[in-house]
Parts: sequence; C-alpha cells; structure tokens
Amino acid sequence: MTTSSPAPGCPAPSCPAPGVRIRDLTVVYKTPVGELPAVSGVDLTLTPGTITGVVGESGSGKSTLALSLLNAVQPPGRIKSGTVEIDGLGDVVKLGGEQLRQTRGRKVGYVFQAAQNSLNPLKTIGKQLLDLGRSHEVDDLRALVRDAKDLLARMGMDGARVLDSHQHELSGGMRQRVGIMLALVLNAQVVVLDEPTTALDMITQATILRIIREVHEERALTTLVITHDVGAVAEVADDLAVMYGGRVVEHGRITEVLGAPRHPYTQGLIRAIPRLSGDISLARALPGRPPTLGTLPAAGCVFRERCDKRMEICETVEPQSVTLDGRTVACHAAGRPLPLVKRKEYA
Ligand SMILES: Nc1ncnc2c1ncn2[C@@H]1O[C@H](COP(=O)(O)OP(=O)(O)O)[C@@H](O)[C@H]1O
Ligand SMILES: [Mg+2]
Repeated sequence: MTTSSPAPGCPAPSCPAPGVRIRDLTVVYKTPVGELPAVSGVDLTLTPGTITGVVGESGSGKSTLALSLLNAVQPPGRIKSGTVEIDGLGDVVKLGGEQLRQTRGRKVGYVFQAAQNSLNPLKTIGKQLLDLGRSHEVDDLRALVRDAKDLLARMGMDGARVLDSHQHELSGGMRQRVGIMLALVLNAQVVVLDEPTTALDMITQATILRIIREVHEERALTTLVITHDVGAVAEVADDLAVMYGGRVVEHGRITEVLGAPRHPYTQGLIRAIPRLSGDISLARALPGRPPTLGTLPAAGCVFRERCDKRMEICETVEPQSVTLDGRTVACHAAGRPLPLVKRKEYA
C-alpha cells in the first residue's frame, strides 16, 4: 500500500529504517535579556526501526527538539550549534531552501503540536491532501487518496467524508487524526509526532497510539513521539528520553527506564502516575515547578532545586551524561542506588 514513488534505489517499505543522530544540539530563543537555550547540548540517538518517546513537563524543550529534526525552528529561535544526522539525508541543520522543503513531509513526516489548529480553514481536507501530494511530485494521486482513506478508516473515521470536509466540520480529535494521516501518507521513514493525542479521550488515545505502532512496524519507520503523558507512551515506545530544562537527563530502553529509573526527575515523574507506580495511594505529585528560560540556573544541575538527592557538587557542576549498559543518565547521584519507591516512607 505504498502511495508515492519510492526513494531512488530504496523501494519503501522494504528499505531499512533510517537512524537519527542528534549531537550536541543547542537551540536558543531571543529574549529581552539575550539568547537563552531551550535545548542545551543534547545528544540523542534514535535507533533505526524504533519508537522513541520523549517526556518531560511543559517547557522542557520537547517541541523545540522536534522542530530541530526538521530544521524548522522559527525566529526568535535558532539552532545555535550541533548536528542532526538522518541516514540518507545527512545533517538536516545544513539543509536549506528546496532541499529542506522536499524533506519535510516526504522524508520526515511530522505532526506539530496543536496540529488540529494548523489545517487550512478555506480548503477541504481532500484538497489539502492533493496540494500536499502535488507539492511533493507524487505521481499517483489516486493512490495517495486511497491511502489517506485507508489511514483515516483505521483511525475510526469515514475517510471519504473526512476528505470532503472543511476543518470546522471536524471535532478537535478528528482534526488531530487528520494531522496524523498527513504525517504518514507520504511514506516518510522518519516520523515526528508532537503531542499527537492530546485532544483525544483516553480510549481513543490508546487506539491511535496502537495504530501509530502498527503503521510504524508495517513501514519500517523510525519514530519520535513526544508527550507529557508517560503512561500513554509506555504502551507504544521502545526507548524513552526524559527531558528537563532543555537537557535529556535520562535515556534508554523504556521498560528499563520505567522499571528502574536512575535520574531523580524520572523517578519523580513515575511516582506521580498511579498506573505506573502501581498503587494509587502511593502516587505523589512532583513538588515545585519546572524552570522557564529565564529561571534556568546558569551553573550546576538544572534539576537541583527540586531534587531530593541534591549534593553540594550539584550547585556548581553540571552533570555530564554517562552511558552504562545502554542507559544514559546525567546526574551526580545516579551512581548510587536510587529505589523507585521507598515503600516504608508511605507506610
Ligand atoms: N517562540 C518562542 N520564543 C521564546 N521562547 C520560546 C519560544 N518557544 C518556546 N520557548 C521557550 O522554550 C522553552 C521550551 O519550550 P518548548 O520546546 O515548547 O517545550 P515543551 O514542548 O517541552 O513544552 C520554554 O521555556 C518556552 O517558553
Ligand atoms: Mg511542546
């Protein structure tokens, strides 16, 4: 069920999933007090064929990271340094103009945050789909429409009716599913989904994530799913990256990260979710609030203000990321045993 002509020498969906390597990525926004980093020295590798979940509270830099994968950070922001290497594309930070336009949608499919608000109000969804196909020189537009209907049907919608509709005729949840369809329909092999299910109720959310997983497997994709809902992503992701204050503070296999989190922030996030911590009476909100660009400490660990494992060194020295047994953690205290829930504390 491929729609568009395959990449030269690599007939989708049989080509291997591409790897993505983000290295030392720093993205800044211009503010009244100068440029401040929303993403700071991030290293993150997306293993080919996997789904990586990215979690973290609001403002931790998740959307800025997602935009960087498409070199789509807009002013007042800019990628200050670093590289984003995608197999078959090279360093997308260096791409510009037509090359970049061709990449977006066709090579890297994406649903931006609040995608349900980014459709054109004046055109039917079907017209927008055809525009998308033409702008990427898709030869077989009938096949494109067929695939779009198929994807919409899998997500529980009447495809023909949706394609005939304007966005105002669709609910928020339906528009969000249209956004997901548009991200997948050009057969991009790297797919970035930023909060793809926030407008959906819990049941629909689970269904949509399951469909994303199915399509991901059928088409050999490399997928990044951003969410503030750790519980939701736990069902679909292979790997998990935890962001705080513009840093990836922990990264590894999702079962291992959730089963035995090593960073105190990850531990706090998990404790706050009853269905992950296993007992509603043990659920405990993470105290304090995440930093904003203006309140990020200039030195030391960005999480220290809220950290129950804080040590003297955390005040002055930023912890480096250390990888051990496939788990990357940036914490001075992470070498020490950090049990997920000290049950006695709650007795
Ligand atoms: N256009 C912008 N101008 C200034 N600051 C921004 C802009 N977009 C995001 N930021 C700031 O960058 C930080 C990271 O934002 P974002 O990447 O949207 O985080 P998340 O997606 O995790 O909520 C936040 O402190 C946010 O306020
Ligand atoms: Mg966001």
